Amino acid sequence: MKKIVLVLLAFVLVFSLAACGKSDDSAAGKTYTVGTDATYAPMEFMDKDKIVGFDIDFLKAVMKEAGLNYKVKNVGWDALFASVKQATEIDFGISSVTINDERKQTYDFSAPYFESTNLIMVKEGSSVKSAADLKNLKVAVQGATTADDIISDLKGKTSSDLKRFESNALAFLEMDKGGVDAVVADNMIINEYVKNNPDKKYVAISDSSFASEYYGLLLPKDSDLKAKLDPAIKTVLENGEYAKIYKKWFGAEPDLTNLNAQQ
Ligand code: ARG
Repeated sequence: MKKIVLVLLAFVLVFSLAACGKSDDSAAGKTYTVGTDATYAPMEFMDKDKIVGFDIDFLKAVMKEAGLNYKVKNVGWDALFASVKQATEIDFGISSVTINDERKQTYDFSAPYFESTNLIMVKEGSSVKSAADLKNLKVAVQGATTADDIISDLKGKTSSDLKRFESNALAFLEMDKGGVDAVVADNMIINEYVKNNPDKKYVAISDSSFASEYYGLLLPKDSDLKAKLDPAIKTVLENGEYAKIYKKWFGAEPDLTNLNAQQ
């Protein structure tokens, strides 16, 4: 009888230990919620009810490399910054977010993963040859982006010729309606829109005063995520995964010279 009790006790012990192990695993297996503003094709956008784009594929590669579970949530641009700051609804963001000093006061960023610059989109035959030519014209931007910063500097923050929209898709719509003379946004987005709408006869204009920008994952300040994500980003950049994803979305080999120099 004593023996049976002992055997039973041993079983209980083994099972409860196993249960402990399991609960530890599931703590490590937390599912991160990654926020985005999926109105920025081809970086992040909706394909029917699915969030897709370069950033989404890149995120997948990085999270796999880091061994982290995640889901992506389309929260919109302003809400993205608000919820990463509070670190509540979402754990971090991927949304073509440019790393800059102003944002660094409130957020941390991962290592840079994408090089970009702003472009001006105008109608074919427009007199606009550079940013200076926008001085007396109406310009649409997505509010609180680097394009907003550029045009605010050029025209003044409160200029009535600067039209800010909640998403870049709405800025494009305003241009299509003839409400503005130009849209300023990131090069990949302008190029994609010009290419996908040949009937609208838009062209992309560059300006040498527009800085090189680098995208990073938007992290809460002092988050331990940086230590988990940066090595994974480095590996994805180095092991050919990045080039594969880049080719899928942009049809070309990436030039990683500047990006690598930023690591
Ligand atoms: N790179 C620009 C910025 O950080 C624009 C990014 C907008 N991204 C988006 N998903 N709407 O300000």
